[in-house]
Amino acid sequence: MNKLEDLRERKAAIALGGGQKKIDDQHAKGKLTARERIELLFDQGSFVEIDVFVSHRCNNFDMPNVKAPGDGVVTGYGMVEGRLVFAFAQDFTVLGGSLGEYHAEKIVKVQKMALQMGAPIVGMQDSGGARIQEGVNSLSGFAKIFHNNTISSGVIPQIAVIMGPCAGGAVYSPAIMDYIFMVDQTSHMFITGPEVIKTVTGEDISQEALGGAMAHNSISGVAHFMGKDDADTLSKVRELLRYMPSNNMETPPAVVSTDDPNRLIPEFNTIIPDNPNKAYDMYDIIRGLADNGEIYDVMTHYAKNIVTCYIRLDGQVVGVIANQPKFSAGCLDINASDKAARFIRRCDAFNTPVLTLEDVPGFLPGAGQEHGGIIRHGAKILYAYCEATVPKVTMILRKAYGGAYIGMCNKELGGDVVLAWPSAQVAVMGAEGAANIVFRKDIKAAEDPVAKKQEKIAEYEEKFSNPYRAAEMGYVDDIIEPATARQRIISAFDMLASKRLSLPAKKHGNIPL
Ligand code: HXC
Repeated sequence: MNKLEDLRERKAAIALGGGQKKIDDQHAKGKLTARERIELLFDQGSFVEIDVFVSHRCNNFDMPNVKAPGDGVVTGYGMVEGRLVFAFAQDFTVLGGSLGEYHAEKIVKVQKMALQMGAPIVGMQDSGGARIQEGVNSLSGFAKIFHNNTISSGVIPQIAVIMGPCAGGAVYSPAIMDYIFMVDQTSHMFITGPEVIKTVTGEDISQEALGGAMAHNSISGVAHFMGKDDADTLSKVRELLRYMPSNNMETPPAVVSTDDPNRLIPEFNTIIPDNPNKAYDMYDIIRGLADNGEIYDVMTHYAKNIVTCYIRLDGQVVGVIANQPKFSAGCLDINASDKAARFIRRCDAFNTPVLTLEDVPGFLPGAGQEHGGIIRHGAKILYAYCEATVPKVTMILRKAYGGAYIGMCNKELGGDVVLAWPSAQVAVMGAEGAANIVFRKDIKAAEDPVAKKQEKIAEYEEKFSNPYRAAEMGYVDDIIEPATARQRIISAFDMLASKRLSLPAKKHGNIPL
């Protein structure tokens, strides 16, 4: 056999991973192989594999006789919509994608390359976790990966795609990354699985209910996106990359917009219900503002009382944080605070301007919230907004009450431009609550307490349930016709494009976690 044929044969054998039987098993579970996934993630034919020939060097048990093509992980780089991206994909057909010493070294190598080249990294996880035969060497490999994840945080986008099992300490690499995608039904994340839980606590729970895609997208908030199968999930990853810069020195890729930046939105003039207790759908507002009505929603299923998403305004990527009156009246609670704060920090780390759309009645009352640490969690939003140096535009649509008014990026928290609609109510609290507290004695002493209460509510509404007092003080820069919202927000971000703001030099802040 000549050397060229030899090379080709060797590569072809490695490309088969654990062999046809294992590939068939993988397909039978509804999962694609590592290389098939890579084909879907990257622009056609652009992927360059590295460390193809690396294998394990383990001498324990029967391992010297065990072949592990690529040591169970495919690594390399390629183009996603013409931009450089690094990736690793664990190959479940080889020793269950388990992570041995050299499997880890391969991942660490692409992590370091991605960091040096300033390009995003996508990690496709499908693994039985630490390779049991390699003992502490595989644990040390995990630690190196976590370390690189942390060093790269805020420098390059790191995206984890869970496409099979991801258990034990293995979950912490994705958890440190910026975004986690999961595939419905075929991916699972947990520290301890159903059997251990059954033994320790007696709880009976299925793998899917414990750590499936929907559980982590809707209950735990660990995952941010889910797809219906491998192909759908990877196409969503490609889409997300359109909204992220390659690294922290760049801005997200802009496009030439086909949507008029001066487009008026007449329906906005009547979209807010007259009854302040009536809900409307904040997504209608966001879609109306966005170029061509396109939204890339983040954490759709979690803390639905707040919306976090990417949109484009006149072709530029903007991160949106918006209260959602349709769920819990759009109040801020523990989960909403966590969701919003992390999103704001992602936006700031990756030079993405922030638009805040405000209609918030306050922080959610309740012993559960207090004991769960709403003080600590709510503080994260304040902290994240204050430290964010990207351009920040806030638009108050309706309620802007109390601490939550501040928490949704008011002027003093760093809102560079604060706009309000005529329906805005900037106050310490709603008129009824205010009347009950401040005028309690007057109401009690009145001949007709009900009439007196109505009078006091009206008085408070007149004074504070509007945006004019705030605008008189300069806390609101302008009160605008809702129909002009898109035009005004785009114009504000245009003005802010050259914003330069730096914080005092420090090692790092101490965000309340
Ligand atoms: C070595 C492993 C392995 C592992 C799976 N395999 N996990 N080999 N180390 N951790 C091998 C299996 O022996 C099998 O080899 C092949 O991969 C496919 O596995 P199956 O069990 O046949 O597949 P399936 O039925 O789909 O089950 C997948 C699984 C199960 C749920 C992942 O394999 C499993 O429970 N594995 C052990 C998980 C685990 O406890 N890992 C350690 C976690 S602790 P053959 O040759 O038969 O095909 C951890 C700590 C990290 O990861 C700490 C970081 C700080």
